[in-house]
Amino acid sequence: MEERKGFGSNFGFLMAAVGSAVGLGNIWGFPNKMGASGGFTFLLIYLVLAVCCGFIVMVGELALGRKTGQGAVGAYKVLSKKFSWMGWLGILSAFFILFFYCALGGYCIKYTVLNVGDLFNAGFGSNGLSGAEIFGNFMSNPAEAIIYGLIFVALTMIIVMGGIGGGIEKVCSIGMPCLFVALLICIIRACTLPGAVNGLKYMLIPGWAVANGVIDKAPNLFQVFATAGGQMFFSLSLGMGAMITYGSYLDRKENIQKNGLLIVVMDSMVAFMAALCVLPARFALDPEGSLGGPSLLFVTMQNVFSRMGTVGPIFGIIFYLLVVFAAISSSISLLEVIVAHFVDKARAEGKGDKRKSYTLIATAMVSLGCILVCADALGTSGISPADLLGIENPKTWAADWLDFWDCISEGIMMPLGALLMTFMVAYEIGTEFVKDEIEQCGNKFTMYKFYRFCIRYVTPLGLLLVLYGQIKSFFF
Ligand code: PHE
Repeated sequence: MEERKGFGSNFGFLMAAVGSAVGLGNIWGFPNKMGASGGFTFLLIYLVLAVCCGFIVMVGELALGRKTGQGAVGAYKVLSKKFSWMGWLGILSAFFILFFYCALGGYCIKYTVLNVGDLFNAGFGSNGLSGAEIFGNFMSNPAEAIIYGLIFVALTMIIVMGGIGGGIEKVCSIGMPCLFVALLICIIRACTLPGAVNGLKYMLIPGWAVANGVIDKAPNLFQVFATAGGQMFFSLSLGMGAMITYGSYLDRKENIQKNGLLIVVMDSMVAFMAALCVLPARFALDPEGSLGGPSLLFVTMQNVFSRMGTVGPIFGIIFYLLVVFAAISSSISLLEVIVAHFVDKARAEGKGDKRKSYTLIATAMVSLGCILVCADALGTSGISPADLLGIENPKTWAADWLDFWDCISEGIMMPLGALLMTFMVAYEIGTEFVKDEIEQCGNKFTMYKFYRFCIRYVTPLGLLLVLYGQIKSFFF
């Protein structure tokens, strides 16, 4: 059988895993959710959940992957009688997330190009239009959105075809440090704009947003908890097999506890840094601008760059490029969840490494979903899920295809996947299993007692509440 090639170094693994975690969820989701959900309170709850739930599930997934040396489907099959089907839940989630993720990735490429146009005063720049007009025009031209979406899908495909060491590791090892520097540049610019301090107040002072009329009323604590939990899961790429898959390519001598902690810390740090860039800029240059949804990234932020004067397009290019890269380093991990399973299967059947063919097939299917989301233009054209199902006054999930796939995957499948995984580890295969895997090459699992306590009681409870809150807010 052909050798299953993994990551070349721990740094490469770490950058790929952090790359998977750092994505649109950090740069777009975190800033607006933090602001609208009480700022500092949200941050605190987020961090507690990241340690007691995120870290626990992360370490579990990495250990399950490395122990079995297989992608999500193979890993669950080997490990459990009752939960053997869970890998398929992961593959399905990966498809659903990719459908809307690639569409949004395409939007980000469009905005990078737009800012290049502005830099050279070219026709494909903003031509003096406002952020809202540019976005409106873009939405009324689904063909353009589809082309950009498919470019994003193609980029993802090319990297995954290169394999773990040759594609994913190489791209992330160079790209992630660059992303970090780009983010720092944007933060410095944003926080030194006059009026930026209001963005910092909005983020950090509890109650400031309500007292200053930025939002109508503060959400209740349970809602903040559910929002922070859902955000944390999506942001850490948990509950759908991405970390199992990456863990399966990790060398036995590497320290899972340390890597798991680093991934959680770095992901949370980048999310906070993104908030430090987006919110101060919005308060300084587009105080009336939207704080959430697609318009934050594509209308408010574009207004910010248009109003920065001659340097605006340069910061626009840096910012949107960094978002494109963050999105690609996540989408490759999503596609890898799908591809790894089929490649493993082909290898086991002695058919050799059919990575290129399987990547192509998976990409074709993802392209169809991406076209559907782009053609629907956030519910403004085409047939929405609500139209299809004959629902009047639809809730978020049925309003457009982007939200539909997001609500099913992020709202139900990911927290459910993580919850079932904790049950499996705590009550079927046993926490000793994770401990043995972590300690096999002399690394100590110093947080084992904390781990065991959390995965038996704290994490499942936290996950149940998050699942309940997500279902309530997305579907009712
Ligand atoms: N973590 C990514 C983000 O924050 C999204 C993602 C979810 C990636 C699941 C892989 C798996 O945008």
